[in-house]
Amino acid sequence: MKDIENRIEFWTKADEGRTKGRSMPHPFMSHPEMFQSKDVLEIGPGWGRQFKQLDPLVSTYCVADICQKVLDRKVYKDIDRVLIEDYQQDLNTKFDVIAFWYVIHHILGSELDDFFSFLNRHLYVGGSVFFNCPGDEFDQEIGSPENINGDGIKTTPHGLKKIKNMLQKYRFKISYSKDIALNCYVLLAEKIGDLT
Ligand SMILES: C[S@@+](CC[C@H](N)C(=O)[O-])C[C@H]1O[C@@H](n2cnc3c(N)ncnc32)[C@H](O)[C@@H]1O
Repeated sequence: MKDIENRIEFWTKADEGRTKGRSMPHPFMSHPEMFQSKDVLEIGPGWGRQFKQLDPLVSTYCVADICQKVLDRKVYKDIDRVLIEDYQQDLNTKFDVIAFWYVIHHILGSELDDFFSFLNRHLYVGGSVFFNCPGDEFDQEIGSPENINGDGIKTTPHGLKKIKNMLQKYRFKISYSKDIALNCYVLLAEKIGDLT
């Protein structure tokens, strides 16, 4: 991953509380059925805002992050944790749901293909990705600021059109999409097939 050391340093400091962003902690709670009794992978769990809400509902919960400091948080001590080195890696398991909140703009444009391939490879057919992304007003390509919520080392707000194209390319069908707040466009998409 490009600039991985700098990115890890940024998120380690963020975890220590030196960098705090403003965002909605759990934009998904109107959909508890999405997580009920499911095997869930959360990418980029941070301090555990989503984990704490969802843990009582799920069958299993696994967290994955590029930052070891995040994974070492006490809140995750009883669950599976995966250090992400790049998105070509294979966890040799599959999930019902992969969720990531306020994370996708920290995936660089050059990593998006690997990221969406990772999502497909780690979900059962019929499983879902559930995530939020900045709305089109933050799209770099249409001239908005380069960095939002601080700089996770070249944070890249991808436009919705690009995200929707990626979902289609990696065999997801969007089942729900809604602009629920500034910087919080929610997407739910079902995996309709394996990659060939
Ligand atoms: C803005 S925080 C969001 C944390 C949490 N989801 C929340 O809403 O409170 C971003 C999280 O993603 C992690 N992260 C940053 N870049 C990442 C990447 N390329 N892959 C996986 N996780 C990443 C950070 O370490 C951090 O845990």
